Amino acid sequence: MTAIRSKISGTGMYVPGRVVTNDELAQRMDTSDEWIRQRSGIAERRHVDGSETPVDLAEHASRRALEAADVGPDEIDAIVLATLSPQHEFPGTSFFLHHRLGVPEIPCFDLRAQCSGFLYSLAAADGFIRSGQMRRVLVVGCEVHSTGLEFTTRGRDTAVLFGDGAGAVVLEANDDPSDRAGLLALRMHAQGEHGKRLWLEAPGSSFYPSRITHEMLDAGLHFPRMEGRFVFKHAVTRMPEVLREALDAAGVKQDDVDHFLFHQANLRINEFVAHSLGIPPEKCPSNIERYGNCSAASIPMLLDEIVRAGRVERGQLLALTAFGSGFTWATAIVRW
Ligand code: COA
Repeated sequence: MTAIRSKISGTGMYVPGRVVTNDELAQRMDTSDEWIRQRSGIAERRHVDGSETPVDLAEHASRRALEAADVGPDEIDAIVLATLSPQHEFPGTSFFLHHRLGVPEIPCFDLRAQCSGFLYSLAAADGFIRSGQMRRVLVVGCEVHSTGLEFTTRGRDTAVLFGDGAGAVVLEANDDPSDRAGLLALRMHAQGEHGKRLWLEAPGSSFYPSRITHEMLDAGLHFPRMEGRFVFKHAVTRMPEVLREALDAAGVKQDDVDHFLFHQANLRINEFVAHSLGIPPEKCPSNIERYGNCSAASIPMLLDEIVRAGRVERGQLLALTAFGSGFTWATAIVRW
């Protein structure tokens, strides 16, 4: 009997229409196009304009992925949605997507592993499929950051980096021995001791007697805070580590990988990682220049872009690597 493997059978992405340039941000805070481009590689990002919420973004991306996989919403067995910016604190975003897609009473849940959330979600979906419990899982990464950032000089270190967007894939059982496509290996890690190095403190149920107060709002605890250099140093160490680990687990050589999809947090981080491993830049597609850091959505958005551009051929190898708050980091090795 052939073991069941999972493969990606369709991809989709969606971003809101409103383009926010670095120059526009420079009118609202003490920053400049030059500073942002030089430190992060970002030229512009997308922000919602009040007419769309996370579930709208997630729905567009999901419908595109389902269409590409030639699968109807009634044919999926679960929805796993990664986000750090849920539609509402609970139940999150996935349940509203469940309703929008009009799926039957299949399970769904939000998964919180920040910028590594898509790869963690892929691991969960892969487990459901390989156990034989499910045939098809919709895996989504969706973020609306723009309504949670501080667009003043106090918040400039994070406000300039993040953007809004959604990406989705259909992960499907592959039990055809003649089809080599599949998720070959996925490795994940976390280091909770650094949970406060990149975080959003409030509202939080650790506060007593209220999760959020006027004082907390005045202090800006509801905006993300980050120790940028500390995050940078850990990202450029952990990403190569987990990439090597996943390549070993898949029995694949680094040189055999055709496309390295790194989380789009900062172009400098990715250039540093690629350079340290001797990976040629042409194997590292990027869209951070146009979208900024879309956290859990970044990798599926980038994947969809290169697939639709015809850059990924059957049989090629992809390595997807993320690093994010938590800290969390992960790599998936995929044969297309
Ligand atoms: N515009 C202009 N100046 C800014 C700024 C902005 N948007 N944001 C911060 N600065 C200032 C700082 O206040 C600091 O000023 P000071 O020297 O007077 O104190 C100066 O620029 C340098 O700040 P620093 O944090 O040392 O810059 P850096 O070279 O480390 O670059 C990051 C900052 C955020 C781009 C970089 O640290 C980074 O990319 N870190 C990782 C971020 C990340 O990937 N996060 C998401 C992970 S999922």
